[in-house]
Amino acid sequence: MCGIVGAIAERNITAILVEGLKRLEYRGYDSAGVAVFTNEGTLERRRRVGKVAELEQALAEQPLVGRLGIAHTRWATHGAPSERNAHPHFSGEQLAVVHNGIIENYEALREQLKGLGYVFTSDTDTEVIVHLLHHKLKTVTDLADALKAAVPELHGAYGLAVISASQPDRLLAARSGSPLVIGLGLGENFLASDQLALRQVTDRFIYLEEGDIAEIRRDSVAIWDEQGHPVQREQVQYHEGAEAADKGEYRHFMLKEIHEQPKVVQRTLEGRLGSDHVLVNAFGPRAAELFAKVRNVQIVACGTSYHAGMVARYWLEGLAGIPCQIEVASEFRYRKVVVQPDTLFVTISQSGETADTLAALRNAKELGYLTSLAICNVGTSSLVRESDLTLLTQAGPEIGVASTKAFTTQLVGLMLLTLSLGQVRGTLQAGVEAGLVDELRRLPTRLGEALAMDKVVEKVAELFAEKNHTLFLGRGAQYPVAMEGSLKLKEISYIHAEAYPAGELKHGPLALVDSDMPVVTVAPNNELVEKLKSNLQEVRARGGELIVFADRDAGIDNGEGTHVVNMPHIDDALAPILYTIPLQLLSYYVAVLKGTDVDQPRNLAKSVTVE
Ligand code: G6P
Repeated sequence: MCGIVGAIAERNITAILVEGLKRLEYRGYDSAGVAVFTNEGTLERRRRVGKVAELEQALAEQPLVGRLGIAHTRWATHGAPSERNAHPHFSGEQLAVVHNGIIENYEALREQLKGLGYVFTSDTDTEVIVHLLHHKLKTVTDLADALKAAVPELHGAYGLAVISASQPDRLLAARSGSPLVIGLGLGENFLASDQLALRQVTDRFIYLEEGDIAEIRRDSVAIWDEQGHPVQREQVQYHEGAEAADKGEYRHFMLKEIHEQPKVVQRTLEGRLGSDHVLVNAFGPRAAELFAKVRNVQIVACGTSYHAGMVARYWLEGLAGIPCQIEVASEFRYRKVVVQPDTLFVTISQSGETADTLAALRNAKELGYLTSLAICNVGTSSLVRESDLTLLTQAGPEIGVASTKAFTTQLVGLMLLTLSLGQVRGTLQAGVEAGLVDELRRLPTRLGEALAMDKVVEKVAELFAEKNHTLFLGRGAQYPVAMEGSLKLKEISYIHAEAYPAGELKHGPLALVDSDMPVVTVAPNNELVEKLKSNLQEVRARGGELIVFADRDAGIDNGEGTHVVNMPHIDDALAPILYTIPLQLLSYYVAVLKGTDVDQPRNLAKSVTVE
């Protein structure tokens, strides 16, 4: 989704801004732009539709040289992807703004500002911000004061960066609902919507909080909170290794991230397992006391994280006997919900910045839940900061838009939650926890075995290259795995994919099955496998082609129209984690065959910070 980079320095900052945008490319965008207060004393911009490389080309042809600038990658919401809608937006030749988020009252503001004589040159909601600020500067001279006067009139979500040709010694920022981080240098400072954009120039950061306004100068930073009081925000030193920055030996980030799963699952388990039990305080020092009161669980998430939550419902109810509900955040946040007493509210998110998930958490706080827990991959995210309890997944930065290692580490986190709640509540059957702790220790090795099937799956992918529709089937906890497999395929190969609980096949989707519609299924050797086999027969009888990832003892054999890929044995409870791997590989290789943009699929964004 949209990305922001800003810089104020004594050196030329254009290359820093462009490099920052490149580092944000993975988030998904459709146009890019940069505005610089040039050494000639003018405010100028370059904007291009398409990739940052196009912008770079424009800058090579017509360079911008200056010590103050802002830049943006835009993911269109209001107005089509076009050069005139790309940020930065200007008011006259004096002010430039870049914006992440959505201004909900932009139509009213636009009319008001038109009445004041402002001429709009884009279809965006953002342009109202820059003209509003320009209008405020007629009565308030200081840029920070003008921004403080303008933001109460903006309804919606925003992360903003502002520069002015008449006050070129400062870069202004405002945060409400869309993250911003200040990068601290020596005699130079930076701003971005994600610290990843600034790792090239610094490892020291200040995260702005909701409602903050910041004035960033070359050698100082001033921050005011929502009430306008000056505040000091904590400085954070970032220690993550450089491993996320490049693809290494892999052709795409997605493939690299798929192969990192044994390592990151291992990391997510580290320090969280005792000899035969889960260490409950992995969820925070108050976790045991709070978990003892939990009688229900409500999970809320979006996208892939939602699928992880769906698996967890099978675990929480099946292993720990704790009633669990799960809902997508965009529905939950606008619905009147009935809260059962003593319900733990769980959010799951890779980024911790997904607008709907955050809004759902904020609503939940008003609704009387027992406490909130975030299972999240970003320790500095809004979701983590606003939740009572946290379990950080240790997936490391995930660059591919299609989530892979974030999902499997979320599942590990959710298994730890299931065992912790069951342990504290005394609802687990004897031996279950110790057995699963052993299995969890072996999981990285099992995942490595599944990844070793890479070449086999690559071959299977050829069956899909010419197809337009596919069906994914699963039963029990494998149904959400099928959903995640179908999401992966549609996200990156643009092949229509639907997931169904295998038992529902005959209630509709069977009508679609023919030789042009491959049916993918996952079949661990569990008590549902015989039922699943009957469903597979129903497909074969209609000429459907089957691709089955099956335990070698499940009794499903290769045959005409049935392609079986044998999987390593695994405890059934952990099978959803293992069986996710071949489905990730399958979608990856199908996308490669189709020649799509695997890491940055069309129309999608990595971190969805607007609703
Ligand atoms: C976007 C991403 C997905 C992700 C979803 C939820 O749609 O492309 O990969 O699953 O957002 O994101 P979160 O960061 O909350 O897990």
